[in-house]
Parts: sequence; C-alpha cells; structure tokens
Amino acid sequence: MKYKIKEATGKLGILMPGLGAVATTLIAGVASVNKGLSLPIGSVSQMSRIRLGKRTEDRNPLIKDFVPLAGLQDIVFGGWDLYADNVFEAASKAKVLEAHQLEAVREDLEKIVPMKAVFNRDFVKNLDGDHVKTQTTHRELIEALRADIKTFKAENNLDRVVIVWCGSTEKYIDAEDIFTELPKLEQALDNNDDRIPPSMLYCYAAILEGVPYVNGAPNLTCDAPAIVELALENNVAIAGKDFKTGQTLMKTIVAPGLQARALGVEGWFSTNILGNRDGLVLDDPDNFKTKEVSKLSVLEEILDANKNPELYGDLYHKVRINYYPPHGDNKESWDNIDIFGWMGYKMQIKINFLCRDSILAAPVVLDLALFIDLAQRSEMYGVQEWLSFYLKSPQTAPGLPAEHDIFKQLMKLQNTLRHIKGEDLITHLGLDYYQELIESIQ
Ligand SMILES: NC(=O)c1ccc[n+]([C@@H]2O[C@H](COP(=O)([O-])OP(=O)(O)OC[C@H]3O[C@@H](n4cnc5c(N)ncnc54)[C@H](O)[C@@H]3O)[C@@H](O)[C@H]2O)c1
Repeated sequence: MKYKIKEATGKLGILMPGLGAVATTLIAGVASVNKGLSLPIGSVSQMSRIRLGKRTEDRNPLIKDFVPLAGLQDIVFGGWDLYADNVFEAASKAKVLEAHQLEAVREDLEKIVPMKAVFNRDFVKNLDGDHVKTQTTHRELIEALRADIKTFKAENNLDRVVIVWCGSTEKYIDAEDIFTELPKLEQALDNNDDRIPPSMLYCYAAILEGVPYVNGAPNLTCDAPAIVELALENNVAIAGKDFKTGQTLMKTIVAPGLQARALGVEGWFSTNILGNRDGLVLDDPDNFKTKEVSKLSVLEEILDANKNPELYGDLYHKVRINYYPPHGDNKESWDNIDIFGWMGYKMQIKINFLCRDSILAAPVVLDLALFIDLAQRSEMYGVQEWLSFYLKSPQTAPGLPAEHDIFKQLMKLQNTLRHIKGEDLITHLGLDYYQELIESIQ
C-alpha cells in the first residue's frame, strides 16, 4: 500500500522550547550547511542511503531523495527560552562550537530571538531566568503559546510548523491520576492544577494548533495517556522521548551484539561527567530521577531477564551523572561491563566515550523534526514508534513493550519509509537469491 503523502511545499518552521546548547548547535549547523561550510554529518535523513529492492538491483538513494522531506534551505527556526539571549549569544555561551564557526553564521543566528517561556521553577529548580510569560492560569498560558505559534507561522510565511522540546529536563512525575485520561487533564487545566508541567502546556498548545510535537527530554509530556488521546482526536503526530545520544547510544549498539551472541551480562556500571546547563539541571535529584528512569530502561528490554534468566537474571545496572563544570558540553562517560562466556568464564569491557553532547544531539533533532513533518503529511497520527531509533525511551502503543535495539529500530525506520512509499519491505531473508541460482542451473 502506498500512502498519499502531501509534498513538502513551502517553508517548514521548527520551533523549540529551550534555545540552549542543543537547539543553538542545530541552528548554527543548518546555517553553516546552507552556506556550504559544513556537511550535515550524523543526520541519517541527509547523509544515509536506503536500499530498495534486491541487493542486485543496486538502488540506494539518499533518504532525503527517496521521501519528500523539507529541504534545509526551507527551514525557519524559532523558539522560547527563559533567558532572553538571541541564538548567537546563547550559542556563544553554550561553548559547543568554535567562535569562528559562529561568526560565519552570526547574522542568521542573531535574527532568532526567543519568545517568552512558560516556566515554573517547581519543575526545574536550578534555573532562574526572567524572560517568562506573565499570564497566571494554565488556560491563559496555552492561549499565549497558541498565539506565538500562529504569529511565527504568519510572520515567516510558513506552510507547516513542528515543535521539538529542547528545554531542560523537568522533575520526575508519574503518569497517574490527572494524566491518565483527557477529561481528567482538561479538568485539571481548568483547576490550574500545579502538577501539570510547563512542557505539557507547550504540547497541548501545539496539538490544538495541529502542530506535531517531539519530546527530546525524559520528562512526562506527550507520553501521558491524556495527551496521546488529544493527539489522536486532533490528528496530530507525536513522538518521544529523550534524544538517544552519547552513552545510551553506545549501550543500544553494544548490548544487542552481546545478546545476539548469547553472552551473559552480570553488571553494567555507567557513569558520566558533564558541565553544561543540562548537567546543572540534572544535578538536582528530582530532575536526575527523570533522566535515570529513562536511561535505565534500555538494558532491561535488550538483555531480558525473563527470556534468558541464565544470562541476564543477575544483571546489576547502575547509572550515575555528575555535574563537572570544567568539561562543559564535552561529556565524558565510562562504562564497565562485566560479561561471561563459555562455561561461565568472566570478561570485562570498558568504554570511555569522550563525546560532545550537543554535536551528537543536533542531527537527531533535525531528523526528528523532518520525519515528524513527513508523518503528519502522510496522515500518520498519534505515536510515531518508527522514530524510536532516535530516542532513549521510545513511546509505543499502550501495553506494547518498546524496542531498544538500535539495529531493529533502524530496520523499523527504513521499512516505514519503504512502506509509505509502496516499496517492498526488506526482511534480509535472502534465500530467493539462492533459489534463483538453483533454478538457473536446473
Ligand atoms: N545533548 C544531548 O545529548 C541530550 C540527549 C538527550 C536529551 N537531552 C535533553 O535535551 C534538552 C536540552 O539539552 P541542552 O544540552 O540543550 O540543555 P541546555 O540547558 O543547554 O538548554 C535547555 C534550555 O531550555 C531552557 N528551558 C528550560 N525550561 C524551559 C521552558 N519551560 N520553556 C522554554 N525554555 C526552557 C533553558 O533555559 C535552557 O536554555 C535537555 O532536557 C536534555 O536533557 C540532551
């Protein structure tokens, strides 16, 4: 079946609540690519190819040439933040990119000034900006955000808008009570219930504006059942949550390999140091808890103790993050993995990843924005599980366990693209090549 995909005509607006390290690195990178100064390295939508048909057909277009995606020249960026710095100033303070690279795109970045944020310190204790909206009720704040989206769209003459949350990680909350059903959430909004986080107000406003929403942080937002209901009622695509970048990316690359070879894993100790504003926010235990839950979930699914108790029944998994200012955005992670093999012999793997958080995250945000726009134009509404490739805690249908193995996630993403374009799905069975060979010599 081939989907009717609306063409990516006109301009696409990408709005980001949170114009910090990740968002500004993305914006500067796209400006730099558009000036011919850089390549969009790490962006699967821009750099990767997709195989179509049989291996022998040699059809391997770039993904951006296979499915209709917005072109990088047709993107207009905007966003909200509780600090009033324009994107050039914010990027300079984030210290991810070198000064000469920022200078080269200075004009493009200075033009982008954040809109006033919806912010509540109860959810992010370690930040204290004053560029915030003054409305006091949830309903008024939602209306103000809807007005921001409309104005951004009209002023920039945009065809479509998507939102990707690049704001700080909010404190941990359970998806219970008011978040379980839409009528309860509506009632709680009317009552100005203080359990509703700012991110959910952005998400609610986006959905009412018909704007697809991706959650790049681990806080509860579009994964709340009430919000899923709202998205389906309004025919809007949503995806979450938590960009999969440094250590978790490595985990979902290495763990499937160990599991594939039936090697046992007894312990996985992961520790990180980072010194950017994200690290400062995560230094608060309530905010760290949100991140910890997200980071812990990946191994449980890949190294499933229920399916293989002999191999993974005793797995001890620990994740730590420490705020360490001298490293800035250059996060360093260490993983110690205690594994065992034939006849129970123990072995160890050590991974020391000297990564750059925002350099890894920027292309993930770009791809998520372009693909959620594609989903919306393809009339694929509600949860977009095929984007789990980019996410630490992928959102799925109720009761459906998430798939964390990055290779299965990639296959899901590629097969989804083939499926919506009416191409054959690729199972990697490959027996047909041999059948053809047998037939040719008989
Ligand atoms: N960089 C990565 O590799 C990575 C990976 C996974 C998830 N994330 C998540 O992405 C988010 C952004 O990361 P970052 O490194 O850019 O952090 P950052 O601290 O540099 O930027 C976040 C920005 O969000 C703003 N903000 C906070 N609450 C807001 C609100 N309610 N409305 C508008 N703005 C708000 C902050 O002022 C800040 O400027 C964080 O939640 C982080 O946990 C990052």
